[in-house]
Amino acid sequence: MASTTLPTTMKALVCEEAGKPLQLKTLPVPTATPGSVVVKILVTAADPGLAHILSGRVFTFPKNLVPCGRAVGRVAAIGPDTTSLTEGQLVLIEPFVRARDDPNVQILWGTFDGPTPASKKFTADNWSRGTLAEYCRTPLENCHPLNEKLLCGSPSEGGFGYRPEDLLALSKQVVAYGGLRGIHLEPGETVIVAPATGMFSGAAVQVAVAMGAKVIAFSRNKAVLEQIQATQPAGRVEIVLNTGDVEKDTAALKQFGPVDAYIDISPFQAAKSTHVRSAIMAVRQYGRVSLMGVIPGDISVPYAYAMWNNLTIRGQYMYERDDVRSLIKLAEAGVLPLGEKSGVKVIGKFGLDEFGQAIELASSHPEIGSTVVFTP
Ligand SMILES: NC(=O)c1ccc[n+]([C@@H]2O[C@H](COP(=O)([O-])OP(=O)(O)OC[C@H]3O[C@@H](n4cnc5c(N)ncnc54)[C@H](OP(=O)(O)O)[C@@H]3O)[C@@H](O)[C@H]2O)c1
Repeated sequence: MASTTLPTTMKALVCEEAGKPLQLKTLPVPTATPGSVVVKILVTAADPGLAHILSGRVFTFPKNLVPCGRAVGRVAAIGPDTTSLTEGQLVLIEPFVRARDDPNVQILWGTFDGPTPASKKFTADNWSRGTLAEYCRTPLENCHPLNEKLLCGSPSEGGFGYRPEDLLALSKQVVAYGGLRGIHLEPGETVIVAPATGMFSGAAVQVAVAMGAKVIAFSRNKAVLEQIQATQPAGRVEIVLNTGDVEKDTAALKQFGPVDAYIDISPFQAAKSTHVRSAIMAVRQYGRVSLMGVIPGDISVPYAYAMWNNLTIRGQYMYERDDVRSLIKLAEAGVLPLGEKSGVKVIGKFGLDEFGQAIELASSHPEIGSTVVFTP
């Protein structure tokens, strides 16, 4: 059911095929088909890894991709089977799309069309247009209502005073939340987060603290680690530097007492780093490990240590749908701070036509404390 008030055309950024530069194009405004809504994008992510994604070196995607699947916007048109979302409602959009008839067919909307012929066809036929546009058609399952009065309302009236660009962080934090829930992190537990300074790994520190855990942030960049520690409540984040000396690093990780869990969110560049071994060797009996990074090759696991200590080592791809609602509730309850309250500054806001500047600024600031956004 398309709204009569929507324009017929819109601006969008398009990557014709992997390795080609983005182009600003005029496309038809999508209509809301069954199982979807159309959202007017208020703010969408200019991620540090965007240029790398579009190079096609790690991810495959269909021709004429409108990249990105993370945004905050307003519902502009509801579909014939929409039951709760309403026009004008503030929503969070996240990119983990599963086929309705087979949830094992999974894609990262706007980034990766998945590893199988079915996932690639599913993407090309339905979801090649993401959020770097003025409007996007969004699967109902990936469109999450936000309590605007509470999250964006004035603090004098009991609100948190967040801006849409602050709320966008939820679409990244939910990745770590999926991993931490996957290993059943409990309040009061101690968890190693390694590395701890990137967009997703730094978000893991924020989320683990909000879940009531104590965090050992294990990474190489001392300056950023200290910034992260300074933005969290006193005593909730300890810092250990990844020096590459396994015995020394393991001992440093164990100095704060028993370690219940470890979440790893390494990029491919860390494939040869010793930190995975150091961190696994620091986890207590019956401890849990979540592997969330994208390391293409194999890693060396301390096999006997894992056996003697009854460790659970779990791989984790993204999150469950319920995790998104649950994380939003943490923010709405005030337990998970966002924006500058979480130590994250928006260092650049760009129109779609300024994509060159946006990508350059974002790629030179990959650390958690800075974020760059598009406001289409
Ligand atoms: N499983 C999933 O569902 C899922 C979802 C989203 C993202 N991911 C993946 O998660 C990974 C991390 O994302 P991100 O944005 O946080 O990554 P990132 O910013 O590229 O890197 C995170 C940190 O890795 C450390 N690092 C870089 N090179 C290293 C090296 N050679 N040795 C040791 N450490 C190194 C750096 O920290 P220091 O300099 O402080 O050491 C850096 O801040 C990516 O590969 C991404 O694809 C997985």
